[in-house]
Amino acid sequence: MTKDFLQITDFTRDEAIELLKFCKKMKDGEVAPKPLEGKTAACIFHKPSLRTRISFEVGINQLGGNSLYITDKEIELGVRESIYDVAKVMSRYVGLIMIRTFDHKNVEELAKYATVPVVNGLTDLTHPCQVMGDIFTYYEKTGKFEDLTIAFLGDGNNVFNSFLNLSCLFKMNLRLGTSPKTLPDEALMEKARKAGRSKIEIHHNPKDAVSDADIIYTDVWASMGQKHQAEEKAKLLSEFQVNNDLLNNAKPGVMVMHCLPANRGQEITDEVMDGPHSVVFDEAENRLHIQKAIMATLLENKT
Ligand code: CP
Ligand code: NVA
Repeated sequence: MTKDFLQITDFTRDEAIELLKFCKKMKDGEVAPKPLEGKTAACIFHKPSLRTRISFEVGINQLGGNSLYITDKEIELGVRESIYDVAKVMSRYVGLIMIRTFDHKNVEELAKYATVPVVNGLTDLTHPCQVMGDIFTYYEKTGKFEDLTIAFLGDGNNVFNSFLNLSCLFKMNLRLGTSPKTLPDEALMEKARKAGRSKIEIHHNPKDAVSDADIIYTDVWASMGQKHQAEEKAKLLSEFQVNNDLLNNAKPGVMVMHCLPANRGQEITDEVMDGPHSVVFDEAENRLHIQKAIMATLLENKT
């Protein structure tokens, strides 16, 4: 079992399946483990957050612990002192560290030297808690977590990169509908293709991408830290808006997902976001449940 959860592929396929089943049991109230009883978990944020901050703080509390919210003003990770020293010191105080930051390598370094579990709450490279929560949302509604087609429209960003990692564990057709200039991380694409479990396709026509899809997914076109590219990305991605016209080309039962926050009227219209296919608020709720399951799994206390 991995000490940390930095990417979905830190879990084996069997562990990921077990995580989904355990999450369902916790959500249904069949088990209520308290692995953080008497402990504090630290949540480090270098970017803003609604869902991640609140769902982690509430989840830590429900697992019996206290949470600490820390911004870069306090630690100045790697500037005021080295990541090595921060990892060593924090491990003496807290039972778990959650971090949301820019550079994924900093999270890897923190995890390498921390003796307590480190959880990735979003980096520029990946957003694993989000995508595990999303596949849990599909699983709880359908009983399935593979043999499905996911069409992600928009920027080939951290959220899509985590779907690439998910496709290494669960068999799926994973399609990205995007422009030639907004492609995902090459190394993660290569890893997903090499894993050989799923079919990965890049489309430049949104209607081709969504045909037969079980899930249509979208995210903001300009992620945190890239807001200066918003105008350029809006031009590149304007055809990839998730709207009713696009949904008319999709399966009647298609689920529409968005990690949120949404830029309503840009990557997704109100009519779709508030329409019958949308499960966006279930995804937001499930962040709480999947993260509790992830923390309890890493802390090896699931009863
Ligand atoms: N989806 C998500 O991570 O939302 P926040 O940025 O609000 O945490
Ligand atoms: N891709 C988005 C996800 C927000 C949850 C970002 O990084 O800003």
